[in-house]
Formats: sequence, structure tokens, C-alpha cells
Amino acid sequence: MAKKLKIGFVGIGAIAQGCHVPGWQTVPDAEIVAAADISKQALAKGGELAGIPKDRLYTDYRKMLKEVELDILDVCTPNCVHKTPTIAGFKAGCHVIVEKPMTVSVADARRMIEAGHDARKLLMVGQCMRFMEDGIAMKRWVDEGLVGDIYWGRASYLRPRGVPAWGAFADKELSAGGPCYDLGVHILDLCLWLMGHPEPVAVSANIWLEIANKPSLMKHNPKKFTVPDELAAGFIRFKNGACLSLETSWAINAPVPNNGIFLAGTKGGIKNNPATLVREEAGMLVDTTVQVNPDAGIQSHHEEIRQFADAVRKGKPSPVPGEEALLTQRILDGIYKSAALGREVKV
Ligand SMILES: NC(=O)c1ccc[n+]([C@@H]2O[C@H](COP(=O)([O-])OP(=O)(O)OC[C@H]3O[C@@H](n4cnc5c(N)ncnc54)[C@H](O)[C@@H]3O)[C@@H](O)[C@H]2O)c1
Repeated sequence: MAKKLKIGFVGIGAIAQGCHVPGWQTVPDAEIVAAADISKQALAKGGELAGIPKDRLYTDYRKMLKEVELDILDVCTPNCVHKTPTIAGFKAGCHVIVEKPMTVSVADARRMIEAGHDARKLLMVGQCMRFMEDGIAMKRWVDEGLVGDIYWGRASYLRPRGVPAWGAFADKELSAGGPCYDLGVHILDLCLWLMGHPEPVAVSANIWLEIANKPSLMKHNPKKFTVPDELAAGFIRFKNGACLSLETSWAINAPVPNNGIFLAGTKGGIKNNPATLVREEAGMLVDTTVQVNPDAGIQSHHEEIRQFADAVRKGKPSPVPGEEALLTQRILDGIYKSAALGREVKV
């Protein structure tokens, strides 16, 4: 049997403990051998879950990378701490999987991609919605040619009351932005993937911070809420003429929304929640939903990890390469820039 893939973590907090550690544990030819975290509590709990020997738990990831030979580094730190460990991982000879958002600026994203190329290692961004059964169903329709050319879409992920009180989400120093980086990045990536990654050219957007810091409304500690936005809305233009409308919030006085994406193509339209294809049949506009889904029950984070392990083992391309996440990052940078300038910006 081939040697097992040796996995190490940087950041072994909520998403690592809840999804990545169990994900790696479903890969038969992989073993988690080390972890680094600045929190001793996270290290103790995450280390135990992952079955890592105590002498392989580090408070400094650089020391871990020096002392332990790893095949794959799994980066599950807060958004602003994605770039440096990713680059260090490549320099230490690892393939790297990094949680979403890939990072918090186009410049950082380019450096991460370059470091992967220099090291000839794979970079995967954890855009887990691509591995959900709805996402896979919509992609099947697109790939079968049932949707045609997608020219307009709407992506909505509005939480009326959902400022995260956990982790570093509401802390600007660690997360950079609000719901755009938390929720918006998921639906944006899903849309771009289904649209075939068209080249974005311009963004017109605004962000708001109006109600999230009212303790009567939110469960979080308002002193810790330092990100610039609780709501973002934008309109994105692509070089091929397609456009996408995006809206995402952690706090908004709105009725409970029907979240999801909808994409309109020349042959049909698709939406998620549940996956539906809308197209003309026998002179009528008809909804098709999935009766029996071969991917039903798929666990998206586990699948994301299994596919990355498979790509590393077989020398296949990254299932979510940095170059695709860079398009998303260009749009995210565009949203904040457009909001600051009060006009449409080129991206
Ligand atoms: N894909 C998803 O559905 C999903 C869901 C939740 C979070 N995330 C992403 O995962 C990332 C982590 O989020 P989380 O909820 O696990 O946060 P968390 O705060 O629970 O965990 C992050 C961990 O990183 C550690 N850390 C911070 N700086 C570090 C450093 N310099 N070196 C080593 N460790 C460090 C923290 O101590 C903490 O234990 C974020 O980027 C977030 O956007 C993705």
C-alpha cells in the first residue's frame, strides 16, 4: 500500500474540529499527524479529536513546519491569517488546502497562487458549496447543455438576525469584512463556477452598518463588532455581457428571506434550495426538480477533502484552484472599493 498522506493543520478551531478533522478521517490513505494553533484550548480539543500525539501540537506553525514532514497543510485560521501560513506551507513542500475566503485582497491571492506555482504544489480553496448535492445537480444540468449560455443571475444570502457571535467573524483585524467574506463568498463562488468563470470587469456596490451593533437586536458582544459591514449589495458585470446581482447580510430588517441563487441561461434557468431546472417543454415553462439524486446526503466538507486528497495522490488539477478564487477576490475587492468611492469600479 502507498504511504499515507501526512496532514497538518494551522488553526484547529471550529471549522477544523467540526468539518475538516472528520473529513480527513474519511480518507483511508491519510493521517492527521500535527497541528498548530495559538489557542492552547483549541489545540487540546482539536488535537484529541484528530488523535494527534501531544508532542506534535504546536503554538507556532513555523516550528511545526520545520519539525514535521507533511504532505498537506490544512489552513483553517481566520481570513486575515490565510496568506502567510499558506505561503509557508508551500515553502515547506506541502500541498495546501485553505478555508474560504481564500484571503482578503487580490494582492494576497496572487502571492498565494505564485507560491504554489513556485513550489509546484496544489492549492485548493475550501469553497464547499460546489460539493453540496444542490450544487452538483445544477452543475450536471449546466454540463449537459440544458441551461445554455448564462447571462443573468441573482445570488442572495440574507440573514435577518445572524451576526456570528463565535470565532473571529466580527473582528476586522482577523476577518477584514463582514457577510461578504462569510456568506457572500460562498454564493459568489457557486455562481461563477456554474457560469464557467467569466471574466469580471466592473462592480457597483454598497455596504451598510446600521443595526448590527444594537445589543437589543444581536447576541454578539457589540464591543467586538469591528467589521465595516452587516449588509452588502452589488451588481457585477462580466466581459461576456453577463451580469450578476449579489446581496448578503448578517443583520437586516427584512422578512425571513428565500435565500439561494438563480441563474438564467439561453436554454433554461437553474436555482438551488431545492435544485430546480426551469425550461420550456411542449410550449410550456416547466420546473424540473430532482427525484432521485445520486449525490443525496453528500457531506460537502468531507467530499471537498476527499477530492483534494485524490488530486494530490493522482497528480490531478486542484478541484478549486486559486486562480478561480482570485476571480471571486477581485469582485470582493471591487465591492468594498465601489462602496468607498460611491460609484462603479473596474475590477
Ligand atoms: N466553509 C465553511 O462553511 C466555513 C464555515 C466556518 C468558517 N469557515 C472559515 O474557516 C476559517 C476559520 O473559521 P472558524 O470558524 O474555524 O474560526 P475559529 O476562530 O473557531 O478557528 C480559527 C482558529 O485559528 C487559530 N489561529 C488564529 N491565528 C492563528 C495563527 N497565527 N496561527 C495558528 N492558529 C491561529 C485560532 O486560535 C482558532 O483556534 C475562516 O476563514 C472562516 O471563514 C468556513
